[in-house]
This record gives sequence, structure tokens and C-alpha cells, in this order.
Amino acid sequence: MLPKTPLIIDCDPGIDDAVALLLALASDEFEILGITTVAGNVTVETTQTNARCICELGGKPDVKVFAGCPRPMLREPIVADHVHGANGLAGVTFPEPQMPLQGQHGVDFMIEALVNTTDKIAIATLGPLTNLAIALIKAPHIVDSIDRVVMMGGALGAGNVTSSAEFNLYADPHAAQVVFQAGADQDLDLTLITLDVTHQALATPERRAALAALDNDVGTTVAQMLGNYGVREQQEMRFAGPPLHDPCVIAYLLKPELFEVQRCFAAVETQSALTQGRVAVDRTGESGQPANVAIAQSIDADGFYALLTERLAKL
Ligand code: RIB
Ligand code: CA
Repeated sequence: MLPKTPLIIDCDPGIDDAVALLLALASDEFEILGITTVAGNVTVETTQTNARCICELGGKPDVKVFAGCPRPMLREPIVADHVHGANGLAGVTFPEPQMPLQGQHGVDFMIEALVNTTDKIAIATLGPLTNLAIALIKAPHIVDSIDRVVMMGGALGAGNVTSSAEFNLYADPHAAQVVFQAGADQDLDLTLITLDVTHQALATPERRAALAALDNDVGTTVAQMLGNYGVREQQEMRFAGPPLHDPCVIAYLLKPELFEVQRCFAAVETQSALTQGRVAVDRTGESGQPANVAIAQSIDADGFYALLTERLAKL
């Protein structure tokens, strides 16, 4: 048995975050040290509640869930409840969570876990990067204990909030740039999975049917949430189903061979209202800057859904 990967998941559940959390909870490769939540798709009061609901749905009520930052570093807060529903989980109702919310702030938990660890810790970020950015500002030396950061965010093509920007980076572009800068200045190992790849991972009716056919509440609930997720995006993009953005991050940590990545220098635009949150990528080296991030270029979508379905069947 290979040693488990110590993992912190930072998220803003959110339907696709919920599926990502279930995939992680179903995977014995991880030692989930904690789930930190952030304002993003919905408020942090709702994201922390949803994270606890999903842990209980997955039969893992002992996982520690923390509330993190309630707003982005500088810009005004935005939400995506038009995509995820007012409750952040497609209006699917869950019992009031019985597991406690941890009293420690998510940023302080992240710092404490990284300061006290003897093994390097992987961090999966599924929402705006506010918590990780504040942790890096408050305790820069934590970089030494971070194995790698795998982030869902950004768009090299069209964004999904503005034509330039994807939600996670648009919701807190300054936090995103702090993290990207740490990749440059402190050799923080960054991997970015953008819309260009997650839009290849569509939950088609056939794939949703396979999840619904699982003989457990998880499959039924996930299929129910996905049936009411990103409807407008699907219509506008003429997608055969909603893209499963965040589970791609967990799948990358589990089976990186499902993806192709390319290292390059990239930075997040923060100055202009029109382009803030845009990932500016140097593919030719013209910036003279060394590569600071590996950006996913492709995904084996069938392999991804086979992994997701096989793992959710275990819960
Ligand atoms: O743009 C997609 C990302 O923004 C996903 O992480 C989704 O959950 C939202 O946070
Ligand atoms: Ca998310």
C-alpha cells in the first residue's frame, strides 16, 4: 500500500465542488487533513454548511471542515447562485449537518497544518484563492511544506463570467496573482486546470445515468444535482451536459496520466475591469520569466468519468 497523500481541499460548494469532495472522500489515496471553505459560488456560511452536508452524504462525518474568508481580498464580492442555485447545491435539500464546523478559521488551520507537518501537504483549490493567498501572505514559509497546489481556475480561451475571465479567478484576481507570484518567487509547485480542459469533461446524459444507476444515495444525489446545474451555460455553449470543473482537480491528483500539462509563465490580470481575472500566458518565453505553473492542455474524459463513477460507487 502506497503512503497516503496528505491533502487540504479549499472549496466553495457549489455543485461541482460537491462532486469533487465526494471523489476525494471515496479515494483511499488521500489523508484529508481538512476541508477549508471560502466565499465564492455562494456565501461562506453556505459553503461551509454545504461542505458538511457533503461529508455526511459521503459517510465521512469525522472530516474537519473550516470556514475561511467571507470575501475576496480587494474587489467587491460576487456569487454564482444563478449557476448553483440559492443553496449552492442545485436546490437539492440535505438534512441539517450534525457534524460540527471547526472553530478555527480556515486560513489559520491551513497555516497550522503546514507549520506542524512532517510530510509535505498537497492543496487542492476548487474556488477563489482567497484563503491560500492570505495564508501565503501571513506565513510565507508555509511554501516549504506544500507538496503542490492543483487549482481549478482560469481560461485560455473564453471565460465564463466575462469574455476574459473564469469565475474562480474573476471572483478574487488579486488572491490568484498572489498564488501565481508564489509560483515564481518561491518555487511553489502550481498546476492549473482551466475551463479549456474542464469543458471537455461534460456530464452527458449517459454519464449522469451511470451515476444515477449506482446503488447508493451518493449516485442518486449527484445525478439529481447535475440535472439542475449550469443549464444556461449548457444552452449557451451547446454542451451535451454540464462541465464537471472541480472534480478534474481531484482526478489529476489521483491519475495525472489522464491529463497532459505544459509548463509556462503565467500571471493573473488585476488592473482592468474589462480583463481582471484573465490568465496571461507566456508560451514563447518572450517575458524572460521562468515557468511558474503547469497548465493542463487535455483530459481523457472517458477515463475521468470511469474513475469518478468507480469511486463514487464505493461510498
Ligand atoms: O468556473 C468554474 C469554477 O467556479 C468552479 O470551481 C465552480 O465551482 C466555481 O467555483
Ligand atoms: Ca468551485
